[in-house]
Amino acid sequence: MSQPTASEKTLELEPQAESTVRAIDVKKHFPVKEGLLGGKTGEVRAVDGVSFSIPKGETFGLVGESGSGKTTLGKTLLHLHEPTGGTVEVAGQRLDELSKRQLREFRQHMQIVFQDPTSSLNPRKRVHQIITEPMRIHDIGTEDERLERAEELLEIVGLPEEYLYRSPTALSGGQKQRVGIARAVAVNPDFVVLDEPTSALDVSVQARIVNLFEDLQERFDLTYLFITHDLSLVKNIADWIGVMYLGRLVEVGPTQQVFRDPQHPYTRALLSAIPTINEADERFKPEKIVLEGEVPDPREKPSGCAFRSRCPHEFPACAESEPGFYDVGPSHYSRCFLHDDELEPDGPPWEPTSTI
Ligand SMILES: Nc1ncnc2c1ncn2[C@@H]1O[C@H](COP(=O)(O)OP(=O)(O)OP(=O)(O)O)[C@@H](O)[C@H]1O
Ligand SMILES: [Mg+2]
Repeated sequence: MSQPTASEKTLELEPQAESTVRAIDVKKHFPVKEGLLGGKTGEVRAVDGVSFSIPKGETFGLVGESGSGKTTLGKTLLHLHEPTGGTVEVAGQRLDELSKRQLREFRQHMQIVFQDPTSSLNPRKRVHQIITEPMRIHDIGTEDERLERAEELLEIVGLPEEYLYRSPTALSGGQKQRVGIARAVAVNPDFVVLDEPTSALDVSVQARIVNLFEDLQERFDLTYLFITHDLSLVKNIADWIGVMYLGRLVEVGPTQQVFRDPQHPYTRALLSAIPTINEADERFKPEKIVLEGEVPDPREKPSGCAFRSRCPHEFPACAESEPGFYDVGPSHYSRCFLHDDELEPDGPPWEPTSTI
């Protein structure tokens, strides 16, 4: 385990499995314009070289503090943001090989559900128009068939048929989110990005919406990228977890494995902050690691390892270059020099820990 073992370009979670999504070195940089003339003065490297894959029908949970680049990555995967670099493949199709028109057609295979159902549904349209719109755009079925499908979908997402003729303004947050979900799955997508899809909802409604995502995944064989701040949620819903820090993945692996034995100091800090429900769990929990400061401004990224400015284990190697991914278990990778046998860290002791 002395060298980074996983090349950034071949990070496969399950090499034998069929992947619905494959991202290779994906980047999204935004220009920063300042001054009176608004000229480009720098760039925000919101996503700065991300590679991973999602096996068909599975869920990849993406976590990380605010500003780490989760939403930008989700949108870039769907080419809602044009990537600055790298390639994305969805259901066997490389998106950069599509013309603009072909990409518009291909959108049928990839959809997104946003956090805020109120702003993502057009208040001037009725529910049936909202749900059938993507089918109309992609020229699927006749008007009657689309309406029939909307009725069916409404039932699947757990809303009564008469809601078809309501305005979204007459619905609760959870009901609106159900409409948004029905709309996303109406065109039979392969891949759906869920960007904090439950965080605007009441806690009591969240669990039911999560169950709905699971039902739909099974029914339609959907592959999800589930973006969330809620680590307890991701633990229950995701097969895989990716931890993002300043535009890069720092740890990737099977969810249960990462929760049981987190390897990157950043992941350990994030997981140590999860509230536990009962006292027994609390006793087994590792000591809380308090991260000082916030994610640095992506315009002023530290040299070497981007996490070193907040890492309790920093040692000289961390400033010299950025660590690659080290293989730390089956399909489990961590981007940290502490895994390198040839380097001698001089920080606090590094023991395997276990979270609940
Ligand atoms: N359109 C844009 N133009 C310029 N900078 C942007 C743009 N969108 C995002 N950013 C910047 O990119 C970085 C990542 O933002 P992003 O919204 O992807 O983070 P996030 O992980 O989704 O955060 P949150 O958890 O708060 O939703 C931030 O520094 C943000 O300010
Ligand atoms: Mg976001």
